[in-house]
Amino acid sequence: MRTVSNEIESIKDPGPAPHVLRAADVNPRSEKRAEQQVAILFALSGVGSLLLIYSYVFIANDVFIFIPVMGNQHAQQLGLGIGMAMSLFFLGMAAIHWAKTLMSETEVVNHRHEFRSSDEDREDFIKTVKEGVAGVQLGRRKLIKRSMAASIGLFALPPVLLLRDLGPLPKKQLETTNWKSGTRLVTDPGDRPILASDLEVGSVVQVLPAIAESGEKGEHPERLLSDIAKDPVLLIRLRPEDFNLTPEKLAMTHEGIIAFSKICSHMGCAVALYEQTTKHLLCPCHQSTFDVTRGAKVIFGPAARPLPQLDITIDAEGYLIARAPFSESVGPSYWERNSQ
Ligand code: FES
Repeated sequence: MRTVSNEIESIKDPGPAPHVLRAADVNPRSEKRAEQQVAILFALSGVGSLLLIYSYVFIANDVFIFIPVMGNQHAQQLGLGIGMAMSLFFLGMAAIHWAKTLMSETEVVNHRHEFRSSDEDREDFIKTVKEGVAGVQLGRRKLIKRSMAASIGLFALPPVLLLRDLGPLPKKQLETTNWKSGTRLVTDPGDRPILASDLEVGSVVQVLPAIAESGEKGEHPERLLSDIAKDPVLLIRLRPEDFNLTPEKLAMTHEGIIAFSKICSHMGCAVALYEQTTKHLLCPCHQSTFDVTRGAKVIFGPAARPLPQLDITIDAEGYLIARAPFSESVGPSYWERNSQ
């Protein structure tokens, strides 16, 4: 009687499919014809290889031939391409045709062997290891054992030290910028210092720390790419009465001029758009919107904290300078989950 378990067994192991005889299996003429077809395909592949060799050796590099629709074509490259394509295509076709018509197609079942070694092999292995350990005599030679352990331990230290060469940690890198107390604000591009009186109400300027102040002067006056990535600041001038800031934040402005890091506090894009009427800064990446009048407070979008504000003032000549470095890290705040 057929049971459910019998049914499942037959689904799990259907066994080899019944062999269906092909024409070449039963008819010698069909077999001969299939053999000739395979030989022709191999021969065509050989023709392709010869065409490739001929094109490479005998066709000059500057010969062009006209082909309808395709126009003038480089003859040598055309020959190489067609030769390679023919060679590979007919080689594959010959192999497939041979396998399908002439090769034995009887299914062979190859059962997997158990991966586990036999008990005898395992015992042999353990015995060999024990004999090896006994031969080394580590148990008896305590001095060698200890000095070896110490040297291996010390050997592991240099790679740890070399980790320092991978550069500073990202958090530390973003915590420090080239803005220092007294650093002049210069235009980007142009590197010109800015007089507070140069800025009109409503204007926005992108600025960088002056190179002379950032320690990059002398033989290498160019800015480092990493500095360009984290130093940019947006300078915006409002009417002083437009601000709605805490006394500390207000003290960081100068006569209506306020400075914010240009690096978005969401994922680090450049905050590039300023709406003069609403006094909002917009990040084009995910539309975080910052209210300039309220210290770049986030009023829309995924950013978790305001843009860091740079404390600015003027020097004796009236040029805008940083009064202090940024008091918080610039850029993305993914490590500061609690910041607001
Ligand atoms: S990077 Fe600015 S909103 Fe996402």
